[in-house]
Amino acid sequence: MNIIQITIILIVLESVLGEYHNVSVSSNSSLVSRQGKSFWGWASIWGIGIVRFQNGVCPAADSLDGTCYTRRQCMDINGIASGSCASNIGVCCVLQRTCSGTSSYNNTYFVNSAFPSTMTTSGVCTFTIQKCNPSICQVRIDFLTFTLAQPDANGNCNYDSMNIVGGGSNIPIICGENSGLHVYVDFNGDSNIRIVISTSSDASVARSWKLKIAQIACDCPTRAPSGCLMYYTDLSGTVRSFNYGTTVSSYFLANGQPGTRQLANTNYGICVGMVPGYCGIQWAPSSDPVSFTVSADTTAAVGTGIIGTSAAYLSGTNCLTDFIVVPDPSASGVPTNTDRFCGNGLPTLTTYSKPFVLTTVTDSNELLDSGNRGFALSYTQLRCTNIIIGK
Ligand SMILES: *[C@@H]1O[C@H](CO)[C@@H](O)[C@H](O)[C@H]1NC(C)=O
Ligand SMILES: *[C@@H]1O[C@H](CO)[C@@H](O)[C@H](O)[C@H]1NC(C)=O
Ligand SMILES: *[C@@H]1O[C@H](CO)[C@@H](O)[C@H](O)[C@H]1NC(C)=O
Repeated sequence: MNIIQITIILIVLESVLGEYHNVSVSSNSSLVSRQGKSFWGWASIWGIGIVRFQNGVCPAADSLDGTCYTRRQCMDINGIASGSCASNIGVCCVLQRTCSGTSSYNNTYFVNSAFPSTMTTSGVCTFTIQKCNPSICQVRIDFLTFTLAQPDANGNCNYDSMNIVGGGSNIPIICGENSGLHVYVDFNGDSNIRIVISTSSDASVARSWKLKIAQIACDCPTRAPSGCLMYYTDLSGTVRSFNYGTTVSSYFLANGQPGTRQLANTNYGICVGMVPGYCGIQWAPSSDPVSFTVSADTTAAVGTGIIGTSAAYLSGTNCLTDFIVVPDPSASGVPTNTDRFCGNGLPTLTTYSKPFVLTTVTDSNELLDSGNRGFALSYTQLRCTNIIIGK
């Protein structure tokens, strides 16, 4: 038997097995034929072995995550083969879906219909997420690309919006620029989670999105604690509120002042997983002067130059509409005696209160506020040295 004959047998066998073991696509391993002397081969007929491999996560091109399947299985589920896996027996299969799509596969990418081209039309695009197995509790949705129309002057997503419904967590309605952000959404029992993106003809914008949807098992160490819409696990990093940006809104409030970029009607936690050996966390504005502008008149604070200075800080009972909450912090070693902060600047805050969470709250309008952009804050976990553990 020469190479061509073997190849033909392999192709025939793979297609037969691929069809026969259709069911195995939705469980977690694949059966595949393989030329004999294979390391795992247990049946060997004329040098052909049969191999089973796990349908695990594999690295695909462009830093995407794929799942290891046979080429046939990947075709059957409309995947894109991107590199090989399981010692070249499988292909790293990337699943990309668009409007009206459904997926019960881990690491499915949901894109706008013409992606990577942008879309300018109005309409509603829905994507349905089903649990890939009963042990799944949560999804992490990464906004690899996310550009929708900006909110109106009050921060309401009245032109374009993304609604995530059907889950067990309360997710704000999101619009604007959010590439690089993510959300965690709990499943509510066995109900599907739906992502509904609406675009409006009232705004002329080149929209595009590519969302990665990863399914997280209930016992997974990377599962986000309840109440954490965003969850970071590095020792240090930057967190951003939705639609944070350094440019000002192009919409205007009723009083003629520039509107806000900060989204209205939000109330969510940004959590940081405590690394062993680290006991505290520091929150600080990032280098950008507008990196904390959550209430009051940002336009005026930029104009007078007090932006980001202690003259623009507000805290405690001065923060009733839009604010952040950091539990039990100190600033420059002195307890602030309040956990609420707003205005157009933030001192560096240190807290040893656990878990590490920053809560952000916004109301439905921007009366008396103008030009707010939200926040981009750096966090740094602090080692357990010279502090009283348990404080
Ligand atoms: C995955 O496969 C292994 C081995 O075949 C099996 O023991 C396990 O129960 C499977 N897990 C799921 C979630 O199907
Ligand atoms: C095999 O899988 C394909 C794609 O998932 C599906 O359309 C087809 O009905 C399945 N066949 C059987 C016999 O289950
Ligand atoms: C889904 O993929 C992610 C990586 O993107 C991985 O961490 C997670 O464990 C996978 N979930 C399941 C259920 O295999």
